[in-house]
Amino acid sequence: MAASRSGALVLFGVTGDLAHKMIFPALYAMAKRGTLKVPVIGVASSKWSLARLRTRVTDSIRRSGGVDNQRALHHLLSLLSYVSGDYRDAGTFTAIQKALGTTPRPAYYLAIPPSLFETVIKGLGAAHLAEQARVIVEKPFGRDLASARALNRVARTVFPEDSIFRIDHYLGKEAIMNLLYFRFANSFLEPIWNRNYVSNIQLTLSEQFGVEGRGAFYESAGCMRDVIQNHLFQIVALLAMEPPSGRDFGAVHNEKAKVFEAMRPLTPDDCVRGQYAGYRKEPDVAKRSDVETFCAVRLFIDSWRWAGVPWYLRSGKYLADTATEVLVQLKPAPQRLFADSAPTAGRANYLRFRISPNSAVALAARVKRAGKEFVGTQQELYLFEDRPGEEAPYERLLTDAMAGDGALFTREDAVEAAWAAVDPVLEMHHRACRYTRGSWGPKEADALIASDGGWHNPTPQHASG
Ligand code: BG6
Repeated sequence: MAASRSGALVLFGVTGDLAHKMIFPALYAMAKRGTLKVPVIGVASSKWSLARLRTRVTDSIRRSGGVDNQRALHHLLSLLSYVSGDYRDAGTFTAIQKALGTTPRPAYYLAIPPSLFETVIKGLGAAHLAEQARVIVEKPFGRDLASARALNRVARTVFPEDSIFRIDHYLGKEAIMNLLYFRFANSFLEPIWNRNYVSNIQLTLSEQFGVEGRGAFYESAGCMRDVIQNHLFQIVALLAMEPPSGRDFGAVHNEKAKVFEAMRPLTPDDCVRGQYAGYRKEPDVAKRSDVETFCAVRLFIDSWRWAGVPWYLRSGKYLADTATEVLVQLKPAPQRLFADSAPTAGRANYLRFRISPNSAVALAARVKRAGKEFVGTQQELYLFEDRPGEEAPYERLLTDAMAGDGALFTREDAVEAAWAAVDPVLEMHHRACRYTRGSWGPKEADALIASDGGWHNPTPQHASG
C-alpha cells in the first residue's frame, strides 16, 4: 500500500502506564532519529496542564535510559498538546477535532484499558474523526473469541481493516523478524521443516520477576491471555506457516492466519496452569485467586506439514531466568550406526532460536571426538549472534503504523482464529498449581512434555557467546 504519513498522533491514555513506559521512549527515539515531525495530542480524563504532561514525558525519558539528546527532547516536548475529557462525552471528541484542525490522516493510539476501546472507537466515529484516519490498538485485543469478534465488529464499522493497527510488540522484535527471514531466505531448511524430521517444537518465554504492580490487570488476564495467545502464538505462526506466495505482506498475513485456523482447540488436559507462591498477597489480587502466572501448553497444528508434531509453549512470572527461546527438536538418526548416534540421555540434533535478551540462531549437530572410537559430542554451530537491534519494537511499530505499513501488525481473522484455539480453556481448566519463585514452574508442567524428552530451559546467556 502506498500510504501517506499520518499528520498527527493522538494518544488516548497519555497519563497512563503504557504511555510512560513504552510510548514516550519510542517517541523520543523517533525524535532523535529525525522521524517525528507531527503534533502529538495527548488525551486523558485527568485535568492535567500541558506543563504537567511535559514533566511526565521528561520523567519517562529519564527513567528509560536518560536524556542523551536535549534537542530531541525539546523537539518532542514542543510537539505536545493536551486534551482532557471523559471518553464517553462527545465534547471530548469536539475538543480533539479542534486540536487536530485540518490535519490529514491522524493516527489514534488507544493506550487505554481494553474495556474502553469500544467507547473511544465509537466516539471517534460519531464525531467523524475516523475518516482517512488510522487506529492503533494494543493487545490484548479482546479477552476471548466472543469479545474479540465484538470488538472487531465495532472497529470495522468505523475503520477499514487496513487502517487498524493491532500491536503485538513481539512482531517488532528483531529476532522475531529474523524467524521469517531465516525460514524463507534459505532453502536448506525446507526439506526437513515438517513432520518427517521435526519431532517437537518448544517455546519458552520466562521472566524472573512477578506481576510488578499489575495485579489488577493480571487478575483479569492471566498468563494465557497475557502472552500465550498472542506473543507465543505469533512465534508459532512464523515457524509453522507455509511459504507466502509473494513479497506483499498480505501474503504473510494469509499464511499466518491459516496456521491459527489449523490449531486444534486446546482441552484442559493440554494445559498446566501455575501460580507463584505469594501471588495472592500482591496488591489488587484476590485472596483466593486461581489466576495463572504460569502456563504450559501442548498444542497441535492439524496441517499437512505439522500433523502429529506437538508444540510445547511455556511462559511464567518469577521463573529461574528472563529469556525467550525456541527449540526445534529434530528426530534422531533412523539407524544406530554408532553407539551414541541417537543419544539415550540428551537431545538429538536441534535448531535453537534465542529471541531475548540477546538473539542467536544455533544448530546442534553431532561430531566425532578425536580418537579410534566412533564416539562424539553434540556441538552448537552458531549461525548468527547479536545484541538486540537499536530500533526498539515500539519505535518500529509506531513509525510503521503512522506510515500506514501494516506488515508487522496482526489481522482481524488471525486474531479471531488464535482466540478460537484457546477459547475452550479460558474458563474450563484445571486449578492453578503452586510453584516456588525462581523455579521453572510447577512439576505438573514437566509431566506434560515428559514423553518428548522434557523441557529445554533457555541457555544461560554466558553460555551462548
Ligand atoms: C507484555 C506482557 O505484553 O509482554 C507482560 O503484558 C510481559 O506481562 C511482556 O512481561 C514481555 O515482553 P518483553 O518484550 O519484555 O519480553
